[in-house]
Amino acid sequence: MPLNIVHDADGFPRVKLTESGGSSAEVLLYGAQVVSWKNERKEELLFMSRKVIWKPPKAIRGGITVCFPQFGNFGALEQHGFARNRLWSLDSCPSPLPPANNQSTVDLILKSTEEDLKMWPHRFELRLRVSIGAGKLTLIPRVRNTDNKAFTFTFALHNYLSVSDISFICSEVRVEGLETLDYFDSLMQRKRFTEQADAITFEGEVDRVYLSTPTKIAIIDHEKKRTFVLRKEGLPDAVVWNPWDKKAKALPDFGDEDYKTMLCVDSAAIENPVVLKPLEEWKGQQELSNVSSSYCSGQLDPLKVLYGFS
Ligand code: BG6
Repeated sequence: MPLNIVHDADGFPRVKLTESGGSSAEVLLYGAQVVSWKNERKEELLFMSRKVIWKPPKAIRGGITVCFPQFGNFGALEQHGFARNRLWSLDSCPSPLPPANNQSTVDLILKSTEEDLKMWPHRFELRLRVSIGAGKLTLIPRVRNTDNKAFTFTFALHNYLSVSDISFICSEVRVEGLETLDYFDSLMQRKRFTEQADAITFEGEVDRVYLSTPTKIAIIDHEKKRTFVLRKEGLPDAVVWNPWDKKAKALPDFGDEDYKTMLCVDSAAIENPVVLKPLEEWKGQQELSNVSSSYCSGQLDPLKVLYGFS
Protein backbone atom coordinates (compact mmCIF):
# COMPACT_ATOMS: atom_id res chain seq x y z
CA MET A 1 0.00 0.00 0.00
CA PRO A 2 1.38 3.46 -0.88
CA LEU A 3 2.34 5.82 1.91
CA ASN A 4 -0.16 8.44 2.85
CA ILE A 5 1.55 11.84 2.29
CA VAL A 6 -0.63 14.80 3.14
CA HIS A 7 -0.17 18.58 3.16
CA ASP A 8 -1.89 20.01 6.20
CA ALA A 9 -2.79 23.63 6.83
CA ASP A 10 0.69 24.38 8.14
CA GLY A 11 2.04 23.54 4.66
CA PHE A 12 4.44 20.85 5.86
CA PRO A 13 4.23 17.58 3.88
CA ARG A 14 3.82 14.73 6.31
CA VAL A 15 3.44 10.97 6.27
CA LYS A 16 0.61 9.53 8.32
CA LEU A 17 1.28 6.08 9.71
CA THR A 18 -1.48 3.84 11.03
CA GLU A 19 -1.63 0.32 12.39
CA SER A 20 -4.45 -2.14 12.79
CA GLY A 21 -4.75 -1.63 16.56
CA GLY A 22 -5.74 2.01 15.93
CA SER A 23 -2.59 3.86 16.97
CA SER A 24 -1.06 6.40 14.58
CA ALA A 25 1.90 8.68 14.02
CA GLU A 26 2.72 11.65 11.80
CA VAL A 27 6.20 12.33 10.43
CA LEU A 28 7.19 15.55 8.67
CA LEU A 29 9.58 15.47 5.73
CA TYR A 30 10.99 18.64 7.32
CA GLY A 31 13.56 17.45 9.84
CA ALA A 32 12.14 13.89 9.68
CA GLN A 33 10.36 15.06 12.78
CA VAL A 34 7.74 12.85 14.36
CA VAL A 35 5.09 15.39 15.38
CA SER A 36 2.36 13.10 16.64
CA TRP A 37 2.01 9.65 18.15
CA LYS A 38 -1.43 8.60 19.31
CA ASN A 39 -2.39 5.42 21.09
CA GLU A 40 -5.36 3.24 20.15
CA ARG A 41 -7.62 5.52 22.26
CA LYS A 42 -6.45 8.47 20.10
CA GLU A 43 -4.65 10.08 23.04
CA GLU A 44 -1.63 12.15 22.00
CA LEU A 45 1.52 10.87 23.67
CA LEU A 46 4.00 13.47 22.44
CA PHE A 47 4.12 17.09 23.51
CA MET A 48 3.78 19.93 20.98
CA SER A 49 4.30 23.53 22.02
CA ARG A 50 1.24 25.77 21.97
CA LYS A 51 3.43 28.42 20.33
CA VAL A 52 5.20 26.17 17.83
CA ILE A 53 6.46 28.08 14.80
CA TRP A 54 5.64 26.16 11.62
CA LYS A 55 8.11 28.09 9.54
CA PRO A 56 11.56 27.01 8.35
CA PRO A 57 14.31 27.53 9.34
CA LYS A 58 12.87 27.31 12.86
CA ALA A 59 12.99 23.81 14.33
CA ILE A 60 9.62 22.42 15.42
CA ARG A 61 9.22 22.63 19.21
CA GLY A 62 7.77 19.26 20.09
CA GLY A 63 7.45 15.67 18.95
CA ILE A 64 10.77 13.93 18.30
CA THR A 65 13.66 15.95 16.87
CA VAL A 66 16.68 14.43 15.14
CA CYS A 67 19.85 16.13 16.44
CA PHE A 68 22.74 15.58 14.00
CA PRO A 69 25.70 16.00 13.49
CA GLN A 70 25.89 17.74 16.84
CA PHE A 71 23.91 17.47 20.02
CA GLY A 72 23.14 20.82 21.72
CA ASN A 73 26.09 23.20 21.67
CA PHE A 74 28.67 20.43 22.14
CA GLY A 75 30.56 21.77 19.10
CA ALA A 76 30.84 24.72 16.72
CA LEU A 77 27.71 24.06 14.64
CA GLU A 78 24.25 25.49 15.20
CA GLN A 79 22.44 24.14 18.29
CA HIS A 80 21.45 20.46 17.80
CA GLY A 81 22.98 20.41 14.30
CA PHE A 82 21.31 21.14 10.98
CA ALA A 83 19.42 17.90 10.20
CA ARG A 84 16.33 19.12 12.03
CA ASN A 85 16.18 22.15 9.72
CA ARG A 86 16.41 20.36 6.39
CA LEU A 87 13.84 18.89 4.06
CA TRP A 88 14.38 15.13 3.98
CA SER A 89 13.19 12.78 1.19
CA LEU A 90 11.45 9.44 1.13
CA ASP A 91 14.11 6.75 1.02
CA SER A 92 13.23 4.18 -1.60
CA CYS A 93 16.32 2.08 -0.96
CA PRO A 94 16.85 1.67 2.79
CA SER A 95 19.07 -1.40 2.35
CA PRO A 96 20.11 -3.44 4.28
CA LEU A 97 16.76 -2.91 6.08
CA PRO A 98 13.92 -4.40 4.04
CA PRO A 99 11.94 -1.75 2.13
CA ALA A 100 8.95 -0.28 3.95
CA ASN A 101 5.93 -1.74 2.25
CA ASN A 102 3.04 -0.87 4.45
CA GLN A 103 1.40 2.07 6.10
CA SER A 104 3.03 1.60 9.46
CA THR A 105 6.63 2.33 8.43
CA VAL A 106 8.36 5.16 6.62
CA ASP A 107 12.01 5.52 5.57
CA LEU A 108 13.47 8.98 5.19
CA ILE A 109 16.89 10.13 4.03
CA LEU A 110 19.00 13.27 4.20
CA LYS A 111 22.19 13.68 2.16
CA SER A 112 24.79 16.40 2.60
CA THR A 113 24.41 19.29 0.16
CA GLU A 114 27.12 21.64 -1.12
CA GLU A 115 25.72 24.25 1.27
CA ASP A 116 26.00 21.86 4.25
CA LEU A 117 29.54 20.93 3.24
CA LYS A 118 30.62 24.55 3.76
CA MET A 119 29.60 24.25 7.43
CA TRP A 120 30.42 20.61 8.05
CA PRO A 121 32.83 19.28 5.39
CA HIS A 122 31.80 15.63 5.49
CA ARG A 123 29.66 13.78 2.97
CA PHE A 124 27.07 11.59 4.65
CA GLU A 125 23.73 9.86 4.27
CA LEU A 126 21.47 10.06 7.31
CA ARG A 127 18.54 7.69 7.32
CA LEU A 128 15.63 7.36 9.68
CA ARG A 129 13.08 4.58 9.78
CA VAL A 130 9.94 5.31 11.80
CA SER A 131 7.53 2.44 12.54
CA ILE A 132 4.50 2.07 14.71
CA GLY A 133 3.12 -1.09 16.20
CA ALA A 134 0.56 -1.78 18.91
CA GLY A 135 1.56 0.54 21.78
CA LYS A 136 5.01 1.30 20.42
CA LEU A 137 6.92 3.69 18.23
CA THR A 138 10.32 2.65 16.89
CA LEU A 139 12.95 4.89 15.34
CA ILE A 140 16.07 3.52 13.63
CA PRO A 141 18.60 6.21 12.71
CA ARG A 142 21.60 5.36 10.55
CA VAL A 143 24.54 7.41 9.36
CA ARG A 144 26.74 6.35 6.45
CA ASN A 145 30.07 7.95 5.69
CA THR A 146 30.06 8.58 1.91
CA ASP A 147 33.23 10.65 2.08
CA ASN A 148 36.83 9.58 1.60
CA LYS A 149 37.94 10.51 5.13
CA ALA A 150 36.71 9.65 8.61
CA PHE A 151 34.37 11.92 10.58
CA THR A 152 32.86 12.07 14.06
CA PHE A 153 29.45 13.23 15.20
CA THR A 154 27.18 13.38 18.21
CA PHE A 155 23.53 12.44 17.93
CA ALA A 156 20.22 12.51 19.79
CA LEU A 157 16.58 11.68 19.36
CA HIS A 158 15.08 14.54 21.33
CA ASN A 159 11.80 13.12 22.69
CA TYR A 160 9.21 15.61 23.94
CA LEU A 161 6.90 13.40 26.02
CA SER A 162 3.46 14.55 27.09
CA VAL A 163 3.04 14.22 30.86
CA SER A 164 0.58 15.37 33.51
CA ASP A 165 1.32 18.60 35.40
CA ILE A 166 4.95 18.13 36.43
CA SER A 167 4.95 21.40 38.42
CA PHE A 168 2.14 20.23 40.70
CA ILE A 169 3.49 20.01 44.24
CA CYS A 170 2.45 16.35 44.57
CA SER A 171 3.38 15.49 40.98
CA GLU A 172 4.45 11.91 40.59
CA VAL A 173 6.10 12.19 37.22
CA ARG A 174 9.43 10.50 37.67
CA VAL A 175 12.19 8.84 35.73
CA GLU A 176 13.57 5.46 36.79
CA GLY A 177 16.70 3.79 35.49
CA LEU A 178 19.19 6.65 35.80
CA GLU A 179 19.93 6.38 39.53
CA THR A 180 23.61 6.12 40.58
CA LEU A 181 24.75 7.22 37.11
CA ASP A 182 27.14 10.03 36.33
CA TYR A 183 25.80 13.02 34.44
CA PHE A 184 26.96 16.31 32.96
CA ASP A 185 24.89 19.14 34.33
CA SER A 186 24.37 21.68 31.53
CA LEU A 187 23.14 24.18 34.12
CA MET A 188 26.54 23.96 35.89
CA GLN A 189 28.96 24.43 32.98
CA ARG A 190 28.67 20.69 32.24
CA LYS A 191 30.33 19.65 35.47
CA ARG A 192 30.16 15.94 36.16
CA PHE A 193 28.03 14.70 39.09
CA THR A 194 26.71 11.35 40.27
CA GLU A 195 22.95 10.92 40.60
CA GLN A 196 22.08 10.36 44.27
CA ALA A 197 18.28 10.18 44.05
CA ASP A 198 16.39 6.87 43.86
CA ALA A 199 14.33 8.29 41.03
CA ILE A 200 14.46 11.62 39.25
CA THR A 201 11.61 13.93 40.20
CA PHE A 202 11.11 17.53 39.14
CA GLU A 203 10.93 20.76 41.12
CA GLY A 204 12.74 23.14 38.79
CA GLU A 205 14.77 23.43 35.62
CA VAL A 206 16.72 20.29 34.67
CA ASP A 207 19.20 19.93 31.82
CA ARG A 208 21.43 16.89 32.19
CA VAL A 209 23.23 14.34 30.06
CA TYR A 210 23.25 10.97 31.89
CA LEU A 211 26.17 8.85 30.77
CA SER A 212 26.30 5.18 29.78
CA THR A 213 22.75 4.49 30.85
CA PRO A 214 20.98 1.10 30.90
CA THR A 215 19.14 0.22 27.71
CA LYS A 216 15.77 0.69 29.43
CA ILE A 217 14.46 3.84 31.12
CA ALA A 218 10.94 4.31 32.52
CA ILE A 219 9.10 7.62 32.64
CA ILE A 220 6.31 7.04 35.11
CA ASP A 221 3.24 9.26 35.22
CA HIS A 222 0.89 8.24 38.04
CA GLU A 223 -1.62 10.98 37.30
CA LYS A 224 -2.14 9.87 33.70
CA LYS A 225 -1.80 6.27 34.85
CA ARG A 226 0.74 5.50 32.19
CA THR A 227 4.40 4.77 31.81
CA PHE A 228 6.66 5.36 28.84
CA VAL A 229 9.33 2.73 28.51
CA LEU A 230 12.30 3.89 26.48
CA ARG A 231 14.49 1.09 25.11
CA LYS A 232 17.57 2.06 23.17
CA GLU A 233 20.59 0.59 21.42
CA GLY A 234 23.69 2.32 20.10
CA LEU A 235 22.64 5.45 21.99
CA PRO A 236 24.36 5.07 25.35
CA ASP A 237 23.52 8.46 26.89
CA ALA A 238 20.19 10.00 27.93
CA VAL A 239 19.33 13.68 28.16
CA VAL A 240 16.69 14.86 30.64
CA TRP A 241 15.38 18.38 30.04
CA ASN A 242 12.62 20.59 31.34
CA PRO A 243 13.10 24.37 31.02
CA TRP A 244 10.71 25.19 33.92
CA ASP A 245 8.99 28.56 34.21
CA LYS A 246 11.68 31.22 33.68
CA LYS A 247 13.36 29.61 30.68
CA ALA A 248 9.94 28.73 29.21
CA LYS A 249 9.07 32.43 29.16
CA ALA A 250 12.35 33.19 27.39
CA LEU A 251 11.68 30.72 24.56
CA PRO A 252 9.68 32.47 21.82
CA ASP A 253 8.14 29.26 20.49
CA PHE A 254 7.14 27.83 23.86
CA GLY A 255 3.98 28.69 25.84
CA ASP A 256 4.57 30.12 29.32
CA GLU A 257 2.80 27.16 30.91
CA ASP A 258 3.96 24.51 28.44
CA TYR A 259 6.79 23.33 30.67
CA LYS A 260 4.18 21.81 32.99
CA THR A 261 3.03 19.19 30.53
CA MET A 262 6.28 18.07 28.89
CA LEU A 263 9.42 16.24 29.73
CA CYS A 264 12.26 15.51 27.35
CA VAL A 265 14.07 12.22 27.82
CA ASP A 266 16.37 11.73 24.85
CA SER A 267 18.35 8.80 23.49
CA ALA A 268 21.80 10.09 22.65
CA ALA A 269 25.44 9.49 21.81
CA ILE A 270 27.25 12.48 23.27
CA GLU A 271 30.07 11.67 25.67
CA ASN A 272 31.88 9.49 23.14
CA PRO A 273 31.23 10.89 19.66
CA VAL A 274 30.67 8.27 16.97
CA VAL A 275 33.66 7.81 14.64
CA LEU A 276 32.91 6.61 11.10
CA LYS A 277 35.48 5.64 8.52
CA PRO A 278 34.70 5.95 4.79
CA LEU A 279 31.84 3.62 3.75
CA GLU A 280 31.09 2.63 7.36
CA GLU A 281 27.56 2.87 8.72
CA TRP A 282 26.43 3.56 12.30
CA LYS A 283 23.03 2.39 13.46
CA GLY A 284 21.03 3.28 16.55
CA GLN A 285 17.58 2.28 17.68
CA GLN A 286 14.99 3.57 20.07
CA GLU A 287 11.65 2.04 20.96
CA LEU A 288 9.13 4.01 22.97
CA SER A 289 6.26 2.04 24.38
CA ASN A 290 3.41 3.26 26.42
CA VAL A 291 2.01 1.06 29.16
CA SER A 292 -1.26 1.96 30.78
CA SER A 293 -1.30 1.30 34.54
CA SER A 294 -4.82 -0.10 34.20
CA TYR A 295 -3.51 -2.55 31.62
CA CYS A 296 -1.85 -4.72 34.25
CA SER A 297 -1.53 -3.87 37.90
CA GLY A 298 2.09 -3.85 38.96
CA GLN A 299 3.26 -2.38 35.65
CA LEU A 300 4.10 0.83 37.45
CA ASP A 301 6.44 -0.95 39.83
CA PRO A 302 9.67 0.53 38.46
CA LEU A 303 11.66 -2.64 39.01
CA LYS A 304 9.08 -4.63 37.06
CA VAL A 305 8.93 -2.04 34.32
CA LEU A 306 12.69 -1.99 33.97
CA TYR A 307 13.62 -5.60 34.55
CA GLY A 308 10.43 -7.57 33.83
CA PHE A 309 8.60 -9.93 36.11
CA SER A 310 11.08 -12.77 36.32
C1 BG6 B 1 17.89 19.91 25.22
C2 BG6 B 1 19.17 20.55 25.70
O1 BG6 B 1 18.17 18.67 24.65
O2 BG6 B 1 17.29 20.75 24.24
C3 BG6 B 1 18.88 21.95 26.25
O3 BG6 B 1 19.76 19.74 26.69
C4 BG6 B 1 18.16 22.78 25.19
O4 BG6 B 1 20.09 22.56 26.64
C5 BG6 B 1 16.93 22.02 24.73
O5 BG6 B 1 17.81 24.02 25.76
C6 BG6 B 1 16.15 22.75 23.65
O6 BG6 B 1 16.96 23.09 22.59
P1 BG6 B 1 16.40 23.94 21.39
O7 BG6 B 1 17.58 24.30 20.54
O8 BG6 B 1 15.42 23.08 20.65
O9 BG6 B 1 15.75 25.17 22.00
